[in-house]
Amino acid sequence: KKPTITVIGSLNMDLVTVAARFPNQGETILGERFLTTPGGKGANQAVAAARLGANVRMMGAVGDDSFGKELIRSLQNEGISVDCVKPVTHQHTGIASITISEQDNRIIVVPGANHALTIEDINECESAIAESDVCLLQLEIPIPVVERAVAIAHRHGVRIIVNPAPAQPLPSSVLEQASFLTPNEHERVILFAGMDEETFVDRLIVTEGAKGVRIWQEGQERLIPSFQVPVVDTTGAGDTFNGALAVALAEGNTLEEACRFANAAAALSVTKLGAQAGMPRRQEVESFLSKQRESQ
Ligand code: RIB
Ligand code: NA
Repeated sequence: KKPTITVIGSLNMDLVTVAARFPNQGETILGERFLTTPGGKGANQAVAAARLGANVRMMGAVGDDSFGKELIRSLQNEGISVDCVKPVTHQHTGIASITISEQDNRIIVVPGANHALTIEDINECESAIAESDVCLLQLEIPIPVVERAVAIAHRHGVRIIVNPAPAQPLPSSVLEQASFLTPNEHERVILFAGMDEETFVDRLIVTEGAKGVRIWQEGQERLIPSFQVPVVDTTGAGDTFNGALAVALAEGNTLEEACRFANAAAALSVTKLGAQAGMPRRQEVESFLSKQRESQ
């Protein structure tokens, strides 16, 4: 049976510029490419999970504008249910201004409608949360909303993955009720600043980019290495990892197996420009993994 995954988070339109380098202060340079493409950590994770074979429902908010309509349509095209995506009239759809250069990426997110998602909106979707195998959340929506959604999922015994991105501290209830926390190295530092991280290692999955993923099993630290691929755009790689992780865990895989599956999905995703463009389908991940096994 297909697992059911509810993603509670952001929807953004990504405005992506590719340039050889970043301009200096006061300087204007010519870029090489521009694209307008669906993004937002929430929507990205929803798309990743849907392509890998889950029943996905998205909860979030968009503005009453053309970007909002486009984002809803793009989720529908992926077979994702959008009945809990709320259009709001007083805010623009979230956008991310992304510059990709040969050295690195720089992103400015303007949350807009994503910050208009309320605790009441989550309460209204309680039954959808209760029916899920896994709830997946990130931090591009108001933290009280995250806190509420986590509390509801926890009350119904639903597994919860919190991807604490972008980096910010979280209320202790969220840390305690989450089944898994998936920070990168930078987010890990902010998340546990002034706290005893030891208490949470049983649920900690640290994504360390090209190195791999760090997990703790019976207190023993382990690195699940990532797969080396030619990189075009790493935007959304973390989101692909989280969406894939949710699917693999919901299907009953061990943490280690789930991380390996998610590493493969994330590796495939960075080979194309755009957060969602390279996100693989189930079949691609399976055949990538079996090729990796053969070459070992
Ligand atoms: O994680 C990548 C995403 O972060 C982008 O799609 C952008 O919208 C920002 O939210
Ligand atoms: Na990509």
